[in-house]
Amino acid sequence: MTVDDKPFSQACENNKQPIFEVLYRVLSDTKKVLEIGSGTGQHAAYFAPRLSHLTWQTSDMPNNHDAIKSWLADVPVRNLLAPISFTVGVNHWPLGSFDAVYTANTTHIMQPSESKLMMQLVADNLPLGGVFCQYGPFNFQGRYTSQSNADFDQHLMEQGCGGIRDVDELVVWAKPMNLLEKISMPANNFMLVWQKK
Ligand SMILES: C[S@@+](CC[C@H](N)C(=O)[O-])C[C@H]1O[C@@H](n2cnc3c(N)ncnc32)[C@H](O)[C@@H]1O
Repeated sequence: MTVDDKPFSQACENNKQPIFEVLYRVLSDTKKVLEIGSGTGQHAAYFAPRLSHLTWQTSDMPNNHDAIKSWLADVPVRNLLAPISFTVGVNHWPLGSFDAVYTANTTHIMQPSESKLMMQLVADNLPLGGVFCQYGPFNFQGRYTSQSNADFDQHLMEQGCGGIRDVDELVVWAKPMNLLEKISMPANNFMLVWQKK
């Protein structure tokens, strides 16, 4: 794959700036971030040059690594690291002193058991005070936030994905992390900001 035919996500182009504005604020004291499920690598390529005080570690299943590398090749900054293999439910937690974790649009793709494990792994491995930023569609108190999310959830189920998770179940799985913020984002998404206490 060359940098000219790299995979492209329009959703990432649409949401990268609103997400960045949250990350700029909540990761202001962070030294090293682990991104779970980097996908195309577009988010990492946009965020890392703008968050030069921290190191951004990309990760995903091996089949996405070429895409991520092709996006990273466009961004020659030293604080953006090539992808490591990390599949929740398959691999151990990656080595590295991560004081924050970021993931976007992965929780509803994963099976519920994998989403639960992700919450537990993040909670177990973050240091005290560490932050977890989790972006995507979520339900609240058993309700969809929009008809489009209900339709999307139906589509996810048909594709064999785990589907949209309820924030209440994430709160249980995430202990001892506290849910600090539920930030409403464009396109019926939310950024959940967790902190280990
Ligand atoms: C919808 S894509 C989102 C990609 C990117 N974060 C974004 O916002 O565009 C879902 C990503 O989750 C990853 N993923 C799915 N199951 C996973 C698992 N069990 N562990 C880690 N990553 C997983 C996929 O490989 C894919 O990159």
